[in-house]
Amino acid sequence: MENEKSTSSKKESNSYPSNNARTKFFPISVFVLVISVMIYRVFTFGPFAPLSCRLLRIGCLNMTVQGDVSPEFIDVKKAFVKIFESGEEVGSSLVAYYNGKLVVELYGGYADLETKREYDKDTLQIVYSSSKVMVYIYIDRGLLNYNEKISKYWPEFAQGNKENVTLLDLVNHRAGVTYLETQLTKSDLEDLDKLAKILAAQPHIFDGVTARAYHAATRGWYLNEIVRRVDPKRRTMGQIISEEIMKQYDLEFYFSLPSNLVPRVSTLYYAPITENISRMRLILLDWLYKKRSESFIINKKSIKQKDLMMKAFNNTIPGLPHILELKEVTKLEAITFECPSVTGFSNAKSMAKLGAIITNNGQPLNNDGSSNKPLLSKNTVDLISTKLPVALDHIIGLNFTPAIGGFAYLKLPGIEDVEFLGWGGFGGSMFIWNRELGISIGYAMNALRMSTIGDKRVWGMLKEIVNVVKKLKKEQSENSSSKK
Ligand SMILES: *[C@@H]1O[C@H](CO)[C@@H](O)[C@H](O)[C@H]1NC(C)=O
Ligand SMILES: *[C@@H]1O[C@H](CO)[C@@H](O)[C@H](O)[C@H]1NC(C)=O
Ligand SMILES: *[C@@H]1O[C@H](CO)[C@@H](O)[C@H](O)[C@H]1NC(C)=O
Ligand SMILES: *[C@@H]1O[C@H](CO)[C@@H](O)[C@H](O)[C@H]1NC(C)=O
Ligand SMILES: *[C@@H]1O[C@H](CO)[C@@H](O)[C@H](O)[C@H]1NC(C)=O
Repeated sequence: MENEKSTSSKKESNSYPSNNARTKFFPISVFVLVISVMIYRVFTFGPFAPLSCRLLRIGCLNMTVQGDVSPEFIDVKKAFVKIFESGEEVGSSLVAYYNGKLVVELYGGYADLETKREYDKDTLQIVYSSSKVMVYIYIDRGLLNYNEKISKYWPEFAQGNKENVTLLDLVNHRAGVTYLETQLTKSDLEDLDKLAKILAAQPHIFDGVTARAYHAATRGWYLNEIVRRVDPKRRTMGQIISEEIMKQYDLEFYFSLPSNLVPRVSTLYYAPITENISRMRLILLDWLYKKRSESFIINKKSIKQKDLMMKAFNNTIPGLPHILELKEVTKLEAITFECPSVTGFSNAKSMAKLGAIITNNGQPLNNDGSSNKPLLSKNTVDLISTKLPVALDHIIGLNFTPAIGGFAYLKLPGIEDVEFLGWGGFGGSMFIWNRELGISIGYAMNALRMSTIGDKRVWGMLKEIVNVVKKLKKEQSENSSSKK
């Protein structure tokens, strides 16, 4: 048999000498090509889609996009659909207002893959740090002043070199309370008086020297205590929002999740590859920081960015999945305590609407039947929008142009010519607006990426929105000049 085979192949190779190299080469090159295409697809196409879909486009999820856009904004819908087609979402929603009018309201995919519950416009989504935008809510009442020392409202706060820290320092992440040395327990968080004692006792981490270092979780607890101390009814921010804002303006923003709403909350997802990449990134960071172990010096002390980051993100929030341990992130229990920095449950339509009220100088939007009472005065909107000098954030490692209100002017990739005011949340959510263009945007999704201030999904759609609005503005000015 063997002989026969070898002779026949010999015969063959003799009769087709020129083809021999090609036939040997051909299967290998095809094999390499197919494998490369597959590897490319698996790594680039739809990190959240099943493997069979990523490899062979078999068994892909049937994701439908619902909602609508004003005719001028059709390209935004196309971009939204395209993100689903490339498998980059599980469930998400994008809502935009232009000049106080709802122009984009899109949602699609699944809030839960297992039960095939659809992601609809009422799905509640944890939006992590997009919650940080909600600080302006109580400033308008004249009970708080950004320039005031916190110790005026809360004398015990003065401990540990914090006596000169102002409310403005706190909302802009430079109060020196980036992390707590005490590991909090759930019971600490449920007893606000006990929590306040721990917060007040925490010494200033830079010995009183002002430096920006992102207060990822802590900012919310400190703000809550300050608000409790000036509110006549001693309510938290979450309670004030639920009693005075949600129903009145027909929107939802919960800083702790009532148990009856749990069925409306989306399940969180992240792609396994994201975890691998983030792990590699940590390894790389480790190496980098070893090379430059003194990354910066504050008050004569050398402080490593990585150490700060670990403390700020890791030790903090029992019950909330650890952001540094991505395996944990998808395990979202009902969060029953408030951390107004990161535990916001909301949706794109609520964020966009709040942004639209701000771009409308704090006045409610006409024609939607909700409250006629201004949310904020124009003076407050002007104040919270006031730019502060550019500051390096020693945790995030980037320069930001903060605004007095405690968010930042963001120049996002691809749309650097427009400054959006607002902030984003871990995984990709965004809550931003631009007063000159009259745009506000809310984006919420349950497929988390390693992003802090949005990622290519929302940036691409924002670019489409900005293009449409610029075109409309140009037309408008041409129309009005031709009338003259
Ligand atoms: C996908 O889902 C939509 C609505 O849920 C349904 O109308 C459509 O027929 C489905 N398509 C496929 C290919 O299953
Ligand atoms: C607070 O300000 C006072 C007056 O300027 C100053 O003497 C004191 O050293 C400051 N405290 C800290 C911790 O920087
Ligand atoms: C990638 O992540 C998965 C899921 O956590 C893990 O099992 C696997 O070992 C990781 N691979 C590498 C190369 O780190
Ligand atoms: C996070 O904190 C826990 C306990 O507080 C610790 O065991 C773990 O090693 C920390 N993880 C990182 C990445 O620092
Ligand atoms: C400009 O005028 C044209 C023609 O009257 C009209 O169709 C269009 O909507 C106007 N554009 C804007 C932005 O007002």
